[in-house]
Amino acid sequence: MKFFIDTANLDEIREAEAWGILAGVTTNPSLYAKTGGKLADFENHMAKICEICKDIPVSAESTAETTEEMVAEGRRLAAIAPNIVVKLPICEASLPACHTLATEGIRVNMTLIFSAPQALLAASAGARYISPFVGRFEDCGEDGIEQLETVVTCVKNYEYGYWEQEGGPEIITASVRTPHHVTQAALMGADIATVPFAALKKCVHHPLTDKGLASFAADWEKVVNA
Ligand code: E4P
Repeated sequence: MKFFIDTANLDEIREAEAWGILAGVTTNPSLYAKTGGKLADFENHMAKICEICKDIPVSAESTAETTEEMVAEGRRLAAIAPNIVVKLPICEASLPACHTLATEGIRVNMTLIFSAPQALLAASAGARYISPFVGRFEDCGEDGIEQLETVVTCVKNYEYGYWEQEGGPEIITASVRTPHHVTQAALMGADIATVPFAALKKCVHHPLTDKGLASFAADWEKVVNA
């Protein structure tokens, strides 16, 4: 499974990139707002992310509401850098926009996916990536992992003409909150997990690893002082 980072914070992206594990970046309007960014700086900020992550996909989300505006914004975002992926929320307006952008060779990440039919429609419209959300189901007491598994099974049952040569469409497990979500996504064969930096750090650690490190260090101290 590939790890993406779910953030627009440049320091977090730099640090995760330095770990050598990063296969992509996803952003959304809330994550950009969290950086304190202004509207006028948005495209420049996306360019900075692409500068840090030159060879991996960087999702920049459109906030347009009509098909025409999504296509226009999608083309503008795609022109920022070759590794930009245009993120569109699943809706009636975004399906034709996705189809148009895909036929122009522009990669789309269809986001806010909460059902298998939404995911199947996104794949049929030419989405390169499909992002089912896990954590938000759990926020309202539903089983996000079960929902994710349904999406993965349904999408992987079929082949789609658009991005087959690059192995698309790929499923991005989104709205990830815990290492357990990552494990569950990998067990069912989801292609990617996009993980916020705090959760990514939790994936590195384990209490038994920390305990083991402390006891190795203490025993080595004995060797040094022997
Ligand atoms: C997907 O790409 C979204 O940016 C993200 O995973 C949403 O996560 P949240 O539910 O924690 O906001």
